[in-house]
Amino acid sequence: MAVDTHVVPVIAIDGPSGSGKGTIARRVAGALGWHLLDSGALYRLVGLAAFKKAVALDSPSKLADLARALNVRFSADSSDAEEIWLDEQNVTAEIRNEEAGRRASVVAAFPEVRDALVGLQRSFQKAPGLVADGRDMGTVVFTDAPLKIFLTASPEERAQRRHKQLKGKGIDVSLPALSRDIKERDRRDSQREVAPLKPADDARLLDSSGKSIDEVTAIVLRWVKEVRF
Ligand code: DC
Repeated sequence: MAVDTHVVPVIAIDGPSGSGKGTIARRVAGALGWHLLDSGALYRLVGLAAFKKAVALDSPSKLADLARALNVRFSADSSDAEEIWLDEQNVTAEIRNEEAGRRASVVAAFPEVRDALVGLQRSFQKAPGLVADGRDMGTVVFTDAPLKIFLTASPEERAQRRHKQLKGKGIDVSLPALSRDIKERDRRDSQREVAPLKPADDARLLDSSGKSIDEVTAIVLRWVKEVRF
């Protein structure tokens, strides 16, 4: 059932990994003083919980049970220093590595897991508003969101951004390997049968290639002013 997002306004920001949507969503939520939902983190947490509890990645019903029972806490809404806790364990760094991303992409392809996470995602819709970041925020979870944005960037630019990010953390991954990984994940995310990565019919497309974080944030905030929530 669709949620009436006019009660508490929602901005849905969807797009592929590396498009910058996490950063933009956080900036926009911060500027508006709204809540933030990093839905990708939930899929990463299900993947991590499966790993920790030795649940196989090919057993959708067990993964869905894990998703329903997910004991997760986000320590801050929109600050850069957000921390994520799973079963009262700080897993902030652990869910961000490439392996966690790969596991997330696998579990996210199961309809059972996606269904199990819908209620949790919608529980983030609290006053004064929510900025929801993911792949299907505008197409599945918050279909009534008055502002839907589909943020993209070229695969090359996304691989370069990720490379820089990892290098900053002292992790050395080759650029071609990252590029291959990004294309492979795009393919999996956009070709899966449930909630494939695609813009909602009423989404505004925004290509962040060659644009700074400030520029992209400014465009989104301009759109926010144009929309009646
Ligand atoms: O945005 P991210 O890299 O943290 O997402 C991790 C994985 O989860 C990615 O492969 C796509 C998937 N995902 C999804 O299927 N639906 C969402 N709303 C968010 C993420």
